[in-house]
Amino acid sequence: MSARSPDQDRTAPTDAVRREPFGTTAEGREVERFTLASTSGITITVLSFGGAIQSIMAPDRRGMLADVTLGYDTLAEYERDKSYLGALVGRCANRIRAGRFSLDGRDYTLARNAGGNHLHGGKRGFNKAVWNVEPFEERGDVGLVLEHVSPDGDEGYPGTLRVRVSYRLTANAELQIDFHATTDAATPVNLTQHAYFNLAGTGSGDILGHELELSASRFTPVDETLIPTGELRSVRGTPFDFSTSEAIGARIESDDEQLRLAGGYDHNFVVDRNGTGELALAARLTEPVSGRGIDIHTTEPGMQFYTGNFLDGTVAGKGGIPHRYRSGLALETQHFPNSPNEPSFPSTILRPGAEHRSRTVYHFVTRG
Ligand code: GLA
Repeated sequence: MSARSPDQDRTAPTDAVRREPFGTTAEGREVERFTLASTSGITITVLSFGGAIQSIMAPDRRGMLADVTLGYDTLAEYERDKSYLGALVGRCANRIRAGRFSLDGRDYTLARNAGGNHLHGGKRGFNKAVWNVEPFEERGDVGLVLEHVSPDGDEGYPGTLRVRVSYRLTANAELQIDFHATTDAATPVNLTQHAYFNLAGTGSGDILGHELELSASRFTPVDETLIPTGELRSVRGTPFDFSTSEAIGARIESDDEQLRLAGGYDHNFVVDRNGTGELALAARLTEPVSGRGIDIHTTEPGMQFYTGNFLDGTVAGKGGIPHRYRSGLALETQHFPNSPNEPSFPSTILRPGAEHRSRTVYHFVTRG
């Protein structure tokens, strides 16, 4: 096992991080799986393919463990995946209108892979890359540092982008995710983690009974191709108001134009915060039967709440169980979709000499 890690104050990994082969990609790249086990009782497996979180074992209020994230058993299934299950997403998460943007007077055309729009980094986004991964253990935390270099012109993006993501699992049952990137030419960057959660346990049914609270007074309504219109709309009096905890299914079928356009929730919420760049509580998710919950803090300005409306049961996941309609939900911390074309949205442009940094923390809890 390699004990090298980029930060000098880190010590060699112990048996709290396990490293094993996970297969070979169609192009012949070796893929590994890492298991992070923390004294909190949370155990997470991560693949070097896509940096994907494959499983998260979490206790319920009685201490019973279940795997609370959607994923697959084999590498071939991850290579075929079109739902971004558990993956790191980049260079830009979510949609860019018609795959076009202008930057510093130049027009760029990106890969179009979603009804004429660019989605989640294109045809081969960061979710399909084999990341370089090194484990670490530090002051009772266990973690991984994942690195990927996206070449100039990758899926149409300018500049060589060097990306580093770290997953740190703490003894306090937090998974802290840090994103870092630098570039040698100006480029948009919008990185996220695309875990799908089902806190009753993956394969156990839909997520409509989960209760959600979002610290978001506004959201970004979309057009029929799911591109934000540019408006920041108040959630008040709409099915998008999660300012107090609500069952996800309570209003999902209500007669609302935005729910109709997206076939459910698939919208970016504007995280309420005092000041910018600080960690703020963005979401609290609870599954009331098991008592499992997740609190999500982030430095990002937005959170895409997606109720698995494109899951249709045609693709099977772990244990051969199909990923049925709305059997998982994603809470993707990010900058707003289509930011490169919306000057009023917080900028996603990274320039040479600057550093992209963002942090998201999933705190696994039990309630009730
Ligand atoms: C995001 C998008 C959805 C969908 C999923 C992946 O959540 O907003 O529209 O593309 O990713 O299937």
